Parts: sequence; C-alpha cells; structure tokens
Amino acid sequence: MKHYDVIVIGGGPMGLATAAELSKTDKSTLLIEQYNFINEKGSSAGMSRQFRVQYAQKYMAELAVESIRYWDALQETTNDELIGKVGSLWFGDPALSSQEGGIQAAMDVMDELCIPYTPLTAEQIEAQFPFKDIPKKYNGFFQKDGGIIDFNATQKALYTICNGAKNVDLKANTPVTNIQSLENGNIIVTANGEDITTEKLVLTPGAYVNDILRFFNLSVDIDIWEMSSAYYKKTEDIELPTWFVFQEPQNTSLFYGFPEVDWSHPGYIRVAPDIPDRIIKDPSQRTGVPSEKSLGYNEAWVRDHMIGLDTTSQFTATCLITLSNNNKELLLDTLPDSVNNNENIILYTGGWAAKFVPLLGKILSDLALTNTTEYDISNFKIDYLPAK
Ligand code: BEZ
Repeated sequence: MKHYDVIVIGGGPMGLATAAELSKTDKSTLLIEQYNFINEKGSSAGMSRQFRVQYAQKYMAELAVESIRYWDALQETTNDELIGKVGSLWFGDPALSSQEGGIQAAMDVMDELCIPYTPLTAEQIEAQFPFKDIPKKYNGFFQKDGGIIDFNATQKALYTICNGAKNVDLKANTPVTNIQSLENGNIIVTANGEDITTEKLVLTPGAYVNDILRFFNLSVDIDIWEMSSAYYKKTEDIELPTWFVFQEPQNTSLFYGFPEVDWSHPGYIRVAPDIPDRIIKDPSQRTGVPSEKSLGYNEAWVRDHMIGLDTTSQFTATCLITLSNNNKELLLDTLPDSVNNNENIILYTGGWAAKFVPLLGKILSDLALTNTTEYDISNFKIDYLPAK
C-alpha cells in the first residue's frame, strides 16, 4: 500500500495552505481533492474576499493580526497582488451587533491591542467615501490594514508551491470513498479504489464536512449559507475601500462591498448583501441562482446610499459560506476520542475564514506534525454529533 506521512483531504484554500506549509518539511504529503483544484464548488466560490483585523473578540483580532506575516510570506512567492491594502471601513448603527461583530466592540478590541484606526461620524464618512444619505446617528471607523483578497491568485500561489514541491503529491478529481482509523495507529484512506495509508490526517472539507465525517459515524451542526453578490457599473471616478454596513433589520439591511480591481470585472464594483438567500445543509442543495429578493435589497442600498454606480445588478453569482450553528467563529479541532488515533486526525471547517488562509495552513500543518500549535485554538472546539 502506498504510504504518506500526512494526507490532507480537501483541496480548497485551507487544504492547499496546509500542504504548502508541509512542503517546507521533509514529510511526504498527499493532498486529495474530489473536484479540480481552484474550483467554485465549495465555500471559496467568488473571486474577492475581505481582509480585516478588527473583530469584536480579542482572540480573533489577534489571529487576524498574526495572519499578516503569513500573507506577507505567501506574497513573496508570487507577482500577483494577493491583498490590495485599500483599508476597511465599518459603519452603521452604533447600537447594533451582528455576527460580524459590532462597531463599538471592534473599536474596544482595537484599543486594547493598540491597532490603529480612525473613528468617523456619518458626516465624515460621506465626506471621505462615495456614500450618501447615511443616517446622522451612524458612526464607524476606517482601519488601514484591511483590504481585498484576490482569492483566485491566493489559491494559485498555494497550488504553485504544492505543485513544485518534491514531497507533495496532488490528486484532483479523486473523491474519498472510505476512511478507516485502526487501533494499530494506521489510517487508511480509500480513493479511486486505492487504499493509501498515513499516520496523520488533516481534513479540510469545507462545506462537504459531513460527507467526510460520516466515515467516522460523526457529523457537525453547520448551516451553509448560499449568498448572492452583484457588480455595479461605475458611472463616476469613485474610490472605495472594502466596507461593511451594520443596520437593522439585519435580515434585509447588512451589506458589504469592495473596491474596483483589475482582476474581477474592471469598471464595475462588487456589492453584496450579508444575508443568506437560502440556508442549506449540503452543498448539493445549492441552486447557483441569486435570489431576486436579496438582489432587490442590494440594488436599493446602491441606489439610496452609494454614489457613482449604476443600480442594475450585473455579473451576479452565489457563493457558499459554511457556518457553525453554535456561534463559533471557526471550527478547528481533532476528532473526538471515540475515534482511534483521534489526536492525529485534525478537522478544519467553517467560518468567514478567507482572511486566515495562510495562518490556518500553518496551524493545521503544525497540528499534523507535532499535535500542538503555538496559537490559541481553544475557542474553535467542535461539538461532534452522531452521523445523521
Ligand atoms: C468578514 O469580514 O468576515 C465578512 C465580510 C463580508 C461578509 C461577511 C463576512
């Protein structure tokens, strides 16, 4: 039987980042992906993501700040700009707290961690950025380290590292059909009719997590949000940072957006509602069709509050976000001790995690190699359930 020191299952950004970290070691590594690499079939669909360091929780802000040096290291490997550092603008109703945080709580954490930011009134936001008719009671801040992640370029950079590494094998279009974790320490992964053994397994299946956990008779309680986004044609020479607006009611009024970039519909600007079109349990339930309702809210926001954009939604798409159902920001843990060798089987899934990709690669590879990480992952423990 073919043997690897580490097998990583799930070749999305987290799996690629893990294998890219492992490529720096002498450990033989296999990364298995059920589809082609850099696909749009999981949580990483959609080209742009937001990078930000502000969080309502100190431990999340610390991780985001820490991730910068891993992004810088990845940036050294490619000529593509991975994060366009245009800054991050958060504004809205100061009383509101959503799952993305809350303005005051994030400012308190930034104060505690000495992260620089500029507080802004509604008038200052309108004066400095192309927004209009912002309610006077709104406030917000601008944080300069935020930006727009080119998620395609990020995955390409990671793939290039893995592909060029002597100790990393990449298998695309290879669904895993069984996993057995034996009492003798061996873990057997079956894929394409072939049994492959390892002692260390990293699972990075994203939205497909319950497809993999069923091999251990386990599941996790996740919701998968299918979310819409659209692009709007620029009619004036406007410049935007990445931004997020917090308002009530949250199920119709949370929006976020991006600057114009030359790698995704130049001449257009992406704006999206931060609400689910549909909450699904399995990626196979994805429709790929943006809901008229959320695009309607989005267009109304663009019409009523943005300057310099045509209000017709174009290049619409949906993406999937896998979220924990017990308010955990990320899900990252070993398997429970009902599973043989559970300390050697590490699972990551879920969360608004694009901003952490290279850091999570480091954490997952450290856990695979040494069963420890220098980072505090205690907040991401997984409450496993029996398989459904
Ligand atoms: C985030 O920064 O985590 C985020 C940004 C936009 C939508 C949802 C989440």
